Amino acid sequence: MEKRAIIIGATSGIGKQLAINLLQDAWVVGVAGRREAELLALRENYGADKVKIAVMDVTQPSAGDKLDELIASMGHPDLLLYASGIGKQNPSLDENIEIDTVKTNCEGMVRIVDKFLQYVRDNASYYAVHKAQVAVISSVAGTKGLGAAPAYSATKKMQSTYLVALSQFCRMQKIPADFTDIRPGFVATAILNPNKHYPMLMTVEKAADIIVRGLRRRQRVLIFDWRFRLLVAFWNLIPTCLWERLTMFKN
Ligand SMILES: NC(=O)c1ccc[n+]([C@@H]2O[C@H](COP(=O)([O-])OP(=O)(O)OC[C@H]3O[C@@H](n4cnc5c(N)ncnc54)[C@H](OP(=O)(O)O)[C@@H]3O)[C@@H](O)[C@H]2O)c1
Repeated sequence: MEKRAIIIGATSGIGKQLAINLLQDAWVVGVAGRREAELLALRENYGADKVKIAVMDVTQPSAGDKLDELIASMGHPDLLLYASGIGKQNPSLDENIEIDTVKTNCEGMVRIVDKFLQYVRDNASYYAVHKAQVAVISSVAGTKGLGAAPAYSATKKMQSTYLVALSQFCRMQKIPADFTDIRPGFVATAILNPNKHYPMLMTVEKAADIIVRGLRRRQRVLIFDWRFRLLVAFWNLIPTCLWERLTMFKN
């Protein structure tokens, strides 16, 4: 049976590459983001029967209605993947950068994921057979408070914690959904500062391959690559009182 996915934030980077991978694997994919030209290019390349589009700004309340329209245009999605995100180092502690980050990474995610789970709840007979999957690209940056990018780090933590809470919520409410928390290390996309060097940088193609494999296995948490898994295990051992004194990750 044909599989259907919605990817929010599919106009560039990891979300776009994931859309391409799924399309090449014969999925029908609903793609969303603010840049209409990028969405139209995907539709042009893979065909209007395979690619459904929604121009959407996740920080706006209208994004929920746009999601409804996207679902109506393609049928019950098997997978909802939230890839929209922004993040900046913020040495001047510009509050606008912090607030915009909260709006996109937290408010946007809550708006989209909650709307989708309401849809799953309201279509319980379908999802009793085809269990829904919700995936969010959070980050390794959410596993510890990082002073170089406070809002980015904290919003990524919020995303991960929200998925834990929703996973429990769905069991309580008998909503048939699995969750995947995708936590990449550094991936070469436009979100990174082109003038900086990033250790253990991965190509977007490799990252998307790893994510698709993890999604197929319905892996609950996906940290990659193995060096970042080690790093996270190591820094989780560092007590907060010591961590707050470490200043080597400067802006
Ligand atoms: N690259 C990395 O090293 C890395 C590491 C860990 C986690 N991540 C996470 O991976 C996710 C994808 O980022 P990326 O690396 O692929 O960067 P990217 O190429 O900049 O992609 C970001 C995506 O988010 C969308 N987006 C941003 N603001 C939006 C808004 N208001 N409404 C709707 N969509 C919005 C963008 O679409 P439009 O601009 O068209 O709206 C774009 O499709 C992010 O959540 C990021 O935090 C990335």
